[in-house]
Amino acid sequence: MELKEKKILITGGTSGLGFSVAKSLIKKGCLVNVIGRSEDNIKKAKKIISSKSFKAFKGDVRNYEEIKRITDKVGRIDILINNAGVWLKGKLQDYSCSKIDEIIDVNLKGVIYTTKLVLPGMIKRNEGFILNVSSTSGITPKNEQTVYCASKYGVTGFTNSLKKDLLSTNIKVAGFYPGGMKTKLFEKAGMPIKNKNWMEPDKVAKVIIFILEQDDQELIIDHLVLNRRRE
Ligand SMILES: NC(=O)c1ccc[n+]([C@@H]2O[C@H](COP(=O)([O-])OP(=O)(O)OC[C@H]3O[C@@H](n4cnc5c(N)ncnc54)[C@H](OP(=O)(O)O)[C@@H]3O)[C@@H](O)[C@H]2O)c1
Repeated sequence: MELKEKKILITGGTSGLGFSVAKSLIKKGCLVNVIGRSEDNIKKAKKIISSKSFKAFKGDVRNYEEIKRITDKVGRIDILINNAGVWLKGKLQDYSCSKIDEIIDVNLKGVIYTTKLVLPGMIKRNEGFILNVSSTSGITPKNEQTVYCASKYGVTGFTNSLKKDLLSTNIKVAGFYPGGMKTKLFEKAGMPIKNKNWMEPDKVAKVIIFILEQDDQELIIDHLVLNRRRE
């Protein structure tokens, strides 16, 4: 797909991988809209990108009405990148129910809600691209990640089913399955990790740009992205 002037929506586009993708897409001449929770990260993102083509909205993907107000404001969306996510590690018996709800609601229901809001416009135009950021935890069981894995396996299942539903259309759906990246995901969850040698989000973003630029309707373009030094 030629990316110039395409209108993009990235959930969780105010930091980490989502922000790296936003920066790359601005360089490609796209109109980039991002959603994030923290005012601080929204301000930082706007300061760094500082372009008329970049808009950052405060919104919580768990709140359907809030996201609807944003998607209504944005209007046409050519490419949706469902990327917002939160992290949790530990033993199931130690999790509170509110923590479990948060992980499932942000990582899984957030993807479903945002897609449900954006899809009708894409169907009307018979055009679009939906890229869902799952994780290696969405295809491989991991120790002490029961709920995080459940949320990401959910994204994988949702993505693959949606892909089937839309096979006869011009709307592409892809899953993206990164391994460990050097972002603040873990720190924000109060569980800092030694991730100095993990993948740079700016490099991983390049793979996403590669996927979006493919225009062959026959290709299945899911990508698993691993750190050679770690995995
Ligand atoms: N880092 C890794 O090793 C890794 C590996 C595999 C997959 N992933 C996945 O990659 C995606 C991006 O994560 P990241 O590593 O880049 O982490 P990150 O830097 O923490 O970015 C996460 C983004 O999601 C936003 N977000 C979180 N909860 C939200 C909510 N309820 N509503 C709206 N936005 C929300 C955050 O906004 P705020 O900053 O305002 O909180 C932030 O912009 C996630 O889906 C994550 O599960 C990460």
